[in-house]
This record gives sequence, C-alpha cells and structure tokens, in this order.
Amino acid sequence: MGSGSEEIKKLMISDLGKMKKEGKKITMITAYSYPQGLIVDEAGIDIILVGDSLGMVELGYRDTVPVTMDEMLQHTKAVMRAVKHAHVVGDMPFMSYNISVEQAITNAGILYKDGGADSVKLEGGQEMADKVGAIVKAGIPVFGHIGLTPQTAGILGGFKVQGKSLERAKKVFDDALALEDAGVFALILEAIPQQLAGIITEKISVPTVGIGGGLYCDGQVLVLHDMVGLFKRFTPKFVKIYADTYTTQLNAVKEFIGDVRESRFPGTEHSFNMKKEVVYELKKQLGVD
Ligand code: KIV
Repeated sequence: MGSGSEEIKKLMISDLGKMKKEGKKITMITAYSYPQGLIVDEAGIDIILVGDSLGMVELGYRDTVPVTMDEMLQHTKAVMRAVKHAHVVGDMPFMSYNISVEQAITNAGILYKDGGADSVKLEGGQEMADKVGAIVKAGIPVFGHIGLTPQTAGILGGFKVQGKSLERAKKVFDDALALEDAGVFALILEAIPQQLAGIITEKISVPTVGIGGGLYCDGQVLVLHDMVGLFKRFTPKFVKIYADTYTTQLNAVKEFIGDVRESRFPGTEHSFNMKKEVVYELKKQLGVD
C-alpha cells in the first residue's frame, strides 16, 4: 500500500479449501460481541462462529433452544463491526430453518444480508440437505454441523457422543456425504469418535472442523467462554481451558469494591480539577466554606 499501513486480507472460503489440501490446520472460535470479535480477530483466528451457544454462555438460557433470530442478528452485527480478517459464520437458531425451505432461505438471508455474516451454519444431516441445497442455490454459503447437534439433543438421547456403533457411525458418515452433495463449504463434526472423524475428513472434499471430533479433523473449534473459563456450569470432555478469566474479572471487581469502600479510588489521576480562583469564587458565591 505504500503508506505504511498494513492491508488486512479477509479470509475467503477458497482459502479454507486450500488449507485442507495443503494440510494446514484451520482455527475457529465463537464470539458474540464487539470486544470478543476484536480479540479473536486480532489473535489471528481463521473463522469466527457467532454461535447459538450464546444462548447459554451469554444470555443464561438452559440450552440453545430458546435462542431467537433477533438475538442472533443483533450479536452477528456486533461481531461484524469488529472483524477485519476472519471469516464470520452466523448460526441459524432452532426453528429458524426447520419448518420449510422457504423459511430456511428467508432466515439465512437475514443473517447474511442484514447481519453481514460471510456464511450461515445450521445443524442436521440428511434430513436438512434440502434446506442446505436451497440456501446454497440462493447464493449463501452454508457451514454444516453433524454428530451431536445441540438444538436437537433431546431426540439424540441428550448431550452424548454420537456414532459409536457401526450402524450409527454409518449414519453420521452418510450425513456428511449428503451435506457435501448439498453444497456445504465446510462441516462441523461435534462429539463423534476420532476414528470416524478421520474417515469423514479423508473421504469428503470440504474441510471438517472438530469439536470433540479428535485430531484428524482439518481444524478445531471451541466455544470462547469455555476456553477462557467464563462458563462454569459444566465443562465437556473436549474442552481445554486456556485461562481463568472468570477469576481475573471477579478479583478485579472485588478489588474495585474494596477501593471504593476504603476511599482508595478514585485517585487524583482519575479526577478532574478547576483553577483555584474559580473554586474560591464558586464557594464564595454559593456560600460554602
Ligand atoms: O453454537 C455453537 O457455539 C456451536 C459450536 C458448538 C460449534 O455450534
């Protein structure tokens, strides 16, 4: 550019395909707000997922089922304002795509067009292939998500590892093939045995990103709040905790409370002054000693 300012290149879907071919691991993480978007983008992450996990880790819902399109839209917009480099995926909440192909296209369009996301993600395999195909045909890139699909964990028998038996493993494999055929550009493999994830990764042309899918996936994703210790309700086996920022923030707030109570805050460096003559005149005029 010549002006000394460094040009930041947006990561494209074609770059992800290239990374798979070259055996370069893909990194992905969730973010839900403007500051989180700034942090993970500055760190150099490849893909940011504005996941419906926000329902649990940011909004305090019991699970992801109650999350609405309005909530997803607002958080997607906030993250988009922060991100310069990473590819941003907007997650489609439960019942925003399950009813019909028309509904799926309309709501994918809202996250893509109004929210500004670079692509959308939805959960489900063969049973969702028609919706995925229709969204892709409408011109919106789709990230697939199979294995454990939290929105429909109820019919999967709860938050359990999927595809452990021969029969169930073949079903997950067929889900992957169906989504590849439908046109997904990448696929999340959640909570499946690493051997199965390895087979899928080898057999399909699009990148796989694992969360509880083991090391053989083309990339890895974690929920930000899990890995920075901000979500304490439960920690799945596949989570690695990299920092305890809950305790860091807790201690900072406790220190602030102590400082205020003991008059240690604000200090002179945090306070504003006016000229002595003005103080003198003000007090005189107001009758203050
Ligand atoms: O919503 C989310 O954060 C997700 C991840 C678990 C992949 O779907």
